[in-house]
Amino acid sequence: MTAGAHAAAHGHSLRDPAAFWGAQAEALHWTRRWDRVLDASAAPLYRWFAGGRLNTCYNALDRHVEGGRAEQTALIYDSPVTNTITRYSYRELRDEVAVFAGALAALGVVQGDRVIIYMPVVPQALIAMLACARIGAVHSVVFGGFAAMELAKRIDDARPRVVVSASCGLEPNRIVAYKPLLDEALKLSSHTVEHCIVLQRPQLRAELQVLRDIDWQAAVADAKPAPCADTAATDPLYILYTSGTTGKPKGVVRDHGGHAVALQYSMHAVYDIAPGEVFWTASDVGWAVGHSYMIYAPLLIGATTLMYEGKPVGTPDAGAFWRVIAQHRVKALFTAPTAFRAIKKEDPRGELIGAHDLSSFKTLFLAGERCDPDTIAWAQENLRVPVVDHWWQTETGWAIVANCRGLEAMPIKPGSATVPAPGYDVQVLDEAGVSAARGTVGNIVIKLPMPPGTLPTLWQNDAGYIDTYLSRYPGYYLTGDAGYIDEDGYVWVMSRVDDIINVAGHRLSTGAIEEVLSSHADVAECAVIGVADQLKGQLPVGLVVLKAGVQRAHAQIVSELVQRVRDQIGAVAAFKQACVVARLPKTRSGKVLRATMRAIADGRSYNAPATIDDPAILPEIARALAQLGLTQPQ
Ligand code: COA
Ligand code: AMP
Repeated sequence: MTAGAHAAAHGHSLRDPAAFWGAQAEALHWTRRWDRVLDASAAPLYRWFAGGRLNTCYNALDRHVEGGRAEQTALIYDSPVTNTITRYSYRELRDEVAVFAGALAALGVVQGDRVIIYMPVVPQALIAMLACARIGAVHSVVFGGFAAMELAKRIDDARPRVVVSASCGLEPNRIVAYKPLLDEALKLSSHTVEHCIVLQRPQLRAELQVLRDIDWQAAVADAKPAPCADTAATDPLYILYTSGTTGKPKGVVRDHGGHAVALQYSMHAVYDIAPGEVFWTASDVGWAVGHSYMIYAPLLIGATTLMYEGKPVGTPDAGAFWRVIAQHRVKALFTAPTAFRAIKKEDPRGELIGAHDLSSFKTLFLAGERCDPDTIAWAQENLRVPVVDHWWQTETGWAIVANCRGLEAMPIKPGSATVPAPGYDVQVLDEAGVSAARGTVGNIVIKLPMPPGTLPTLWQNDAGYIDTYLSRYPGYYLTGDAGYIDEDGYVWVMSRVDDIINVAGHRLSTGAIEEVLSSHADVAECAVIGVADQLKGQLPVGLVVLKAGVQRAHAQIVSELVQRVRDQIGAVAAFKQACVVARLPKTRSGKVLRATMRAIADGRSYNAPATIDDPAILPEIARALAQLGLTQPQ
């Protein structure tokens, strides 16, 4: 780690991407060397390592078993909600993955087939993902907090042959029965799934449908270990659906080659983790953070990964994270700022930290939402380790902007994610596409090509990919975030430019929630805004206008709307607040003034836009939001 190492790596990666990434790819095992590191022949769609062949599962497991790490712990499963701690060596994990891959193959799953995985944070989710990678099937993990309708949308888009699920998930206050949600999703979807493999958990067993559903234990009982398929670097490894601006989720595709190269590079360069060290990502397998840093990246370099089935607070208390770090000698933790806000709220003075030996702990990494400087300061003061904010998206799969601790420890500026990571040419453009001056807020874009590991396209939708991300500024990827670059080249990510909101580190589309509200028979029109929340960062709040003549009690309608969002999107939307208003504020051309309503709700000063149709409406909105307890400065 030397001064200037970051700038040198970054400069090299942009000047000569083929040489830079070609050198990083040497760290992996290839069954066929690539013809071209970067294939730009179909620009603006780029492919990395064209012609190359490798198997991601082989690189994540078998390679380490054969290379001397067979008995090293690959995975620690720490589950306070079931009172369990289980360790898997690289050999044990390889064997379980190979057998489950055999079980999938026995059900007819072949290379290129899709498998949806709808599971809580349990080792079997990781095993199922790697088993797909092993036989060249494409996995698509769906977060357990989504309701049946969301699962059905993903089933219809991915068209899986098999779904792998569990009987239940365990939230601190309740058991979430997954199987009825899966059954309902299968009824709602038009695609027919041939088989479901269900992990029966002792806390709640699921009813299995004869012929279609198979108990996980039965599926692996007779299965033969499957060998690693010979996959192309450009073959899809997985699809991960993420919120777009409508109710239709976007299927972000990840390939085998670029993904493995970028993730193994980032483990050293960004997180400063070496083989054999313990890395903990406290997230969910259903999110990109879970895919990249709970599952693939630590295993690709032969580190030990930790899977935690619990919460930062309440399982059993706000000291849970410190217990886990001390007990498993964790070197670095990666989570979302909201987890730390939850801990800070319960234990403001960090009194539960002192009871634990945190001497192994070197760095805290935060991402997933904008990190408020107060939370960074609290973590730094109480943990006495560098707190590193970094910015990325499901689409990129790894950090766009980061303080790359393995290259060079750069000064931390709370509120900024530091500087672009190697491979990323980050720029800020104004509405006309002109480079914004330093310090001036604009659209954050990434000049093409983006580095390996980022999405090559959307699932079976090249046109949608180009339209959504690449057409606003030709030659650039539109991140959807607004921000600025300061005099030192630090990037400050401030807000989304679209209707995506970030609730407890979970990405949600207000457009999707509006679609659910609009489908209620009494609703004429509505708007959903993300208002500031001290714990979750943002919370969705609905404003609805009722159809003329509706006489029903507003409280009843609101409670139906809340239930409808929970049923159709899921508990994860945390949609609990809505109010009925007579009209929505609009411009004269009919555009709903969401930003103005957000400012009112957050208690920020605002000016009625010059284009507003009827300024008299704003005090009415303020009164309605005040009745929800909003409009106070946060
Ligand atoms: N399966 C089923 N339901 C789930 C779920 C899952 N995997 N994950 C969350 N839910 C439910 C919760 O039980 C909750 O339901 P409720 O309305 O009945 O209480 C709802 O979805 C909202 O969950 P969440 O946003 O996680 O809020 P919470 O109040 O349970 O916990 C935090 C708040 C801050 C503790 C929690 O969000 C957290 O630990 N965040 C860590 C960061 C993280 O995971 N980030 C992801 C990207 S890095
Ligand atoms: P997701 O795809 O769920 O990872 O969400 C990505 C979005 O979360 C980004 O586009 C940002 O809006 C936000 N985000 C993630 N990390 C950060 C960060 N470090 N700072 C600010 N915003 C962030």
